[in-house]
Amino acid sequence: MVKAVVLGAAGGIGQPLALLLKTNPRVTELGLFDIVNTPGVAADLSHIATPAKVEGYLPPDDGLAKTLTGADIVVIPAGVPRKPGVHDLFKINAGIVHDLAVGIATTAPKAFVLVISNPVNSTVPIVAEVFKKHGVFNPKRLFGVTTLDVVRASTFVAEIIGDLSKSPNVVVPVVGGHSGVTIVPLLSQSSHPLPSSFASEKLEALTTRIQFGGDEVVKAKDGAGSATLSMAYAGAEFAAKVIDALAGKKGLVAPSYVHLDADKEGAAVLKKEIGKELDYFSTNVEIGPNGVERIIPLGKLTEYEKGLIAAAVPELTTNIEKVSCYQRPR
Ligand SMILES: NC(=O)c1ccc[n+]([C@@H]2O[C@H](COP(=O)([O-])OP(=O)(O)OC[C@H]3O[C@@H](n4cnc5c(N)ncnc54)[C@H](O)[C@@H]3O)[C@@H](O)[C@H]2O)c1
Repeated sequence: MVKAVVLGAAGGIGQPLALLLKTNPRVTELGLFDIVNTPGVAADLSHIATPAKVEGYLPPDDGLAKTLTGADIVVIPAGVPRKPGVHDLFKINAGIVHDLAVGIATTAPKAFVLVISNPVNSTVPIVAEVFKKHGVFNPKRLFGVTTLDVVRASTFVAEIIGDLSKSPNVVVPVVGGHSGVTIVPLLSQSSHPLPSSFASEKLEALTTRIQFGGDEVVKAKDGAGSATLSMAYAGAEFAAKVIDALAGKKGLVAPSYVHLDADKEGAAVLKKEIGKELDYFSTNVEIGPNGVERIIPLGKLTEYEKGLIAAAVPELTTNIEKVSCYQRPR
């Protein structure tokens, strides 16, 4: 029995993500919350013949609490995406994520929480701070969803190898954070190595493409928003791993942006590798029934990748420190 909840379920990511969760056979209840349209989305999904019973709520009459009651896993794609006229996502999304986190802290404090809302480097610390204030913070259960970076990197590498049919099996670890230069693809650790003829300038171009892959979608959508379908796919893939882990499946590993207290021993090695006492970092984590079991260090890096990490750390530090002076506007 697994209850999955989507907060922001009527949005560009929320709707396809809710669809994919509805098709996950382990999900028995699906709670959908948004400030608009969730009863319609829920009615539509409820006609699909899969086990999950679907309910959609709006804010009136304690809708958020009703959605969250009994939740095992909560996925948050609520908030504004990048589009013309929206310059500071943090300004808007920090408040949205803050208020939803208060709801989770009071109604479903033991749920696994998966944050999609951008900027992930800062929204995950926002959720952590709310949970700390409510005395319910467990770093093992809070995840920033960075899977889209892995999905993109893996797809681009499969394209280069020249066989997209291999793409489901290609895995490229992507570490650091989830915006621009904080996104660090470890192409040297790709499960399917790049051809030896792949020159260094091509490697740099591929790295930049992975770091700024979101821009390709924003540009092509021409004012209509950012990645929604690929993000829903990536979010559902990560959520499925967490749900499998809850069900007792072992050895599940995926990169995620986590608080490094989730595994102090693993984090100590990681911090030496990155050369800085950061509180949050995205790296491969092993997920089990209690959440993060193990933070997996970066391992052997090339000089080029070490340079990327060095460039990512100051930006990541700024993104994290920004949250310490955040006050929810009244
Ligand atoms: N982590 C990633 O890899 C990744 C990738 C793409 C987009 N994103 C981010 O995901 C977020 C959502 O993107 P989208 O394209 O789906 O946007 P969208 O505007 O299409 O949908 C957002 C939804 O959130 C809802 N919402 C707003 N305030 C809310 C609140 N207080 N409570 C509940 N719901 C609320 C809106 O009504 C809307 O339905 C953005 O912040 C975007 O930047 C993250």
